Amino acid sequence: MVEKQVQDTNCCRSNQPSKATAGAVTAAAQTAPASSAAKTQTLDAILGTEFPLIQGGMANIATGEFAAAVCNAGAMGVIASGGISPDKLRAEIHACRKLTDRPFGVNVMLMHYQIDDIARVVAEEHVPFVTTGAGSPAPYVDSWKQAGAKVFPVVASAILAHRLERCNIDGVIAEGTESGGHVGELTSMVLVPQVVDAVSVPVVAAGGIANGRQYTAARALGAIGAQIGTCLLLSEECPIHDQYKAMLLKARESGTTVYGRLGGVPVRALKNRMTRAYVKAEKAGESKEELEKMTLGALRRAVFDGDVEHGSFMCGQVVGQLHEVRPLRAIFEDIMSGASICMDQLESAGDLR
Ligand SMILES: Cc1cc2nc3c(=O)[nH]c(=O)nc-3n(C[C@H](O)[C@H](O)[C@H](O)COP(=O)(O)O)c2cc1C
Repeated sequence: MVEKQVQDTNCCRSNQPSKATAGAVTAAAQTAPASSAAKTQTLDAILGTEFPLIQGGMANIATGEFAAAVCNAGAMGVIASGGISPDKLRAEIHACRKLTDRPFGVNVMLMHYQIDDIARVVAEEHVPFVTTGAGSPAPYVDSWKQAGAKVFPVVASAILAHRLERCNIDGVIAEGTESGGHVGELTSMVLVPQVVDAVSVPVVAAGGIANGRQYTAARALGAIGAQIGTCLLLSEECPIHDQYKAMLLKARESGTTVYGRLGGVPVRALKNRMTRAYVKAEKAGESKEELEKMTLGALRRAVFDGDVEHGSFMCGQVVGQLHEVRPLRAIFEDIMSGASICMDQLESAGDLR
């Protein structure tokens, strides 16, 4: 199922609101967007974290335990709701709370087949931070905010970011196509400044960020912080199969491919037998049903079984620059100290010509 819960990255899909949530849509739509003064706040101040870094939701990977480890290491840990039931999500939230007293988040996949129940659990559990993917969170934002959450939808276009601003959100995460998982078309370099110009709320950059130079570049593009995913797959705490980590360590910068573009659900993953067969079948005009059969359960096959041939080893283009498995804390410290060094170098270079 998880592969079906895709990010609808290019349009503002309006989820059919249930009667119970229809009022929330109206209320959210009437709320004025946040002032542009909010853009000057730092991400760590907004989130109450040590570092201005968010761990991206990663279906089947970002458990409550992993999110808690991220929080304890100083960033914002986010539990993924993709591919799990509302009851399981509640259990993961409880597990996270047992392991950390720091703020944490949930990534809500809006195409989840039990989306109303997933959204209700997030509100009932007073989750402090919510990211969303695959559409418009309008029907749910008010209930999460009334429960005390800060809400940051993930977007892959400036148009979607602009539309979502009407939903009383606290910020947006602009995710470039370099990233792992479901992707849009625009690179972070092109997307982030356009989103920054399109909205008055703070913007977080995602896609292609794994070191201090990339973090500094994201800040230069106008982002107040970064969401990272691929580099965290290579953390000691990340609960993926050892084979998954081994494949990431071996991969070069051209080691990823995007499959599913023709069907409108593009996914970036390591090139392997499955992705090659998929792209070939897609080009040959294979039916949607046949294509779905190839990817159904493929992420789980990678995460839990380390199935080299048939798994979908989702990861971003930064995989080529990752050469070791490290503790989460070391990864975060490295990004931030690297950013300081980069800033010093830029300052001492003076004139950038
Ligand atoms: C294995 C994997 C699974 C992902 N699953 C999700 C998901 O369930 N929901 C989501 O919003 N984003 C998902 N993403 C995207 C991440 O949350 C994050 O935005 C992205 O990894 C950042 O780019 P990077 O991979 O270049 O660091 C996934 C990424 C990876 C690598």
